[in-house]
Order: sequence, then C-alpha cells, then structure tokens
Amino acid sequence: MKIKKAVFPVAGLGTRFLPATKAMAKEMLPVVDKPIIQYAVEEAFSAGIEQIVFITARGKIALINHFDRSFELEHNLKIKGKHELLKEIKKLVPKTGTIIHTRQNEPLGLGHAIWCARDIVGNEPFAVLLADDLIKSDVPVLSQMMKKFTKLQSSIVAVMEVEKHQTEQYGILDAVPINNEVVKVNALIEKPAPEKAPSNLAIIGRYILTPEIFNYLGKNKKGAGGEIQLTDAMHSLLKTQSIFGYKFKGERFDCGDKAGFQMANLAFAMEREDIKNKLLKYIKTLG
Ligand code: G1P
Repeated sequence: MKIKKAVFPVAGLGTRFLPATKAMAKEMLPVVDKPIIQYAVEEAFSAGIEQIVFITARGKIALINHFDRSFELEHNLKIKGKHELLKEIKKLVPKTGTIIHTRQNEPLGLGHAIWCARDIVGNEPFAVLLADDLIKSDVPVLSQMMKKFTKLQSSIVAVMEVEKHQTEQYGILDAVPINNEVVKVNALIEKPAPEKAPSNLAIIGRYILTPEIFNYLGKNKKGAGGEIQLTDAMHSLLKTQSIFGYKFKGERFDCGDKAGFQMANLAFAMEREDIKNKLLKYIKTLG
C-alpha cells in the first residue's frame, strides 16, 4: 500500500530557542538559508508523499505562509530581474490542496499531536517527520524507509545508536537484529534513565505508522513528562502488530538543541560552494 500522507507535528513552543522563538515558529529557524521545516517537507515530497499534514498551534501562521504563494514578493523579484530567486520561491510552493493543517489546541505531547491527524489520515499507513531531526543523506531517509516498508508492511521507526548517558533524551528500543539494517522491536520506552534503558538504540524523528496506532493514541494515557507519548502508543501496538527499527544511512543533526543546530548550519554550509571557502578561512582563525 502506498504511503501518501506525512504528518508534521509543529505545535511546539520552541522554548529552548528563546528569545529567537518568542514571535517566530522554531521550525522557521534557518539552516543556512532554508527554514528547518522546508528540509523535512522536501524530504517527504522526494519520497513520494502527496499530502503534508501540519499539526500546528497558535503563532505558527508564518509556517503555513511559507508554503503559500506570495504575489507581492514574486512581483518584486520579477521586476528586479531576479529570475533565479523567483524560480526558487515558486518551486517551494506545493500544488494547491497538498498542504493541510489542523491545530493541536492543547500541548499534550507528541502522541496527542499525531492523534489530531486521525481523521485527515484515515485508514491508511502514513509517515511522521519531526523536523528538528535534520538528516543529511544521499538518499532521503524517508525514501530509505519507504523501500523497507514495501517489504515489511509494518510500522517502522528510524533508529541510531546514542551514548548510554543520552537515553533520557530519546525513545529507546528493546530489539533483536534481523540483519545489519533492520531490528525487530520487542518493547519501546520513552526517555528511560541510562540504568533502565534496554539498549542504546534511539528513535530518530522519522516514522512510518499503520493507522491502528490511532486506537492507542486515542486512549489519552499520559507517559514520560506527563505527556501523551507516541512511543507508548507504539509499545501498545506491539500487542497486535510487529514494529521494526531501521538504521538509516545519513548524518543526523538535532536542531532542537543549540549546539546541534549550529552543527547543522556548519555541515550544510560546507556543502555550498558559495559559502564554503569563506567559512573555512574563518574557522581556521578560531583554532
Ligand atoms: C521525540 C520522541 C522520542 C524521539 C525523539 C527524536 O522526543 O518522543 O521518542 O526519540 O523525538 O528526536 P522529543 O525530542 O520531542 O522530546
């Protein structure tokens, strides 16, 4: 079955980036010259996704506007002869009707945010992308996962190994290897203390989920941090369905973290011929 919809939970307040995020959505923070959210949306479209579902909150209008046309801007670029920029600005606007948004009225957690998409997603498997997890890779991670889904026909989460002391920041898997890329999940625990973590295999923000997940998300059970957790609902889903972890190919940057965000900027800037040399020259002066 083809995965056509991707859900993007973008309702978070972004308190870690205050004051930058006081009046601006954290997903609009740029990595080089593109907002974080645009990387994730482009990844979804290049993986064949047809509809983008934003789970927003108050104060996130800029994010919706970003994917809409701006006739004034287009007009200005046109009369100034900035044709390349104009082309780029037009290109980032998806076909009419492909962006859907709904609001998460209360900040009850990631699981609750995904549950808000239940009627939009309906009875089909779907993808979830957490834009904070920016992944630099040759093949977009969601495409890598789609390929696995074709074979496995079950829910899949992207995973990577983290340092043992970091387990408290992630959903952690108890899993057995199927091969060197795929593991079969026995249990999932959200943000366990290192001494309670069953492994150091952490969930990274890319998921392919079967629609049965909504049955468990709808139970509104609070978990780690007093929030409704997607990880807990996935753990419950294991009662009736298999879940797999996929060790993706790529470098992941945690853009929800100040240092991770700067690293992402550096890594993506170094891939740009127009920036790379200036940056390298400056970095050398710091050493
Ligand atoms: C969320 C998930 C967690 C996952 C992480 C990946 O946590 O709840 O399971 O490991 O994203 O970035 P958050 O970072 O929103 O606290």
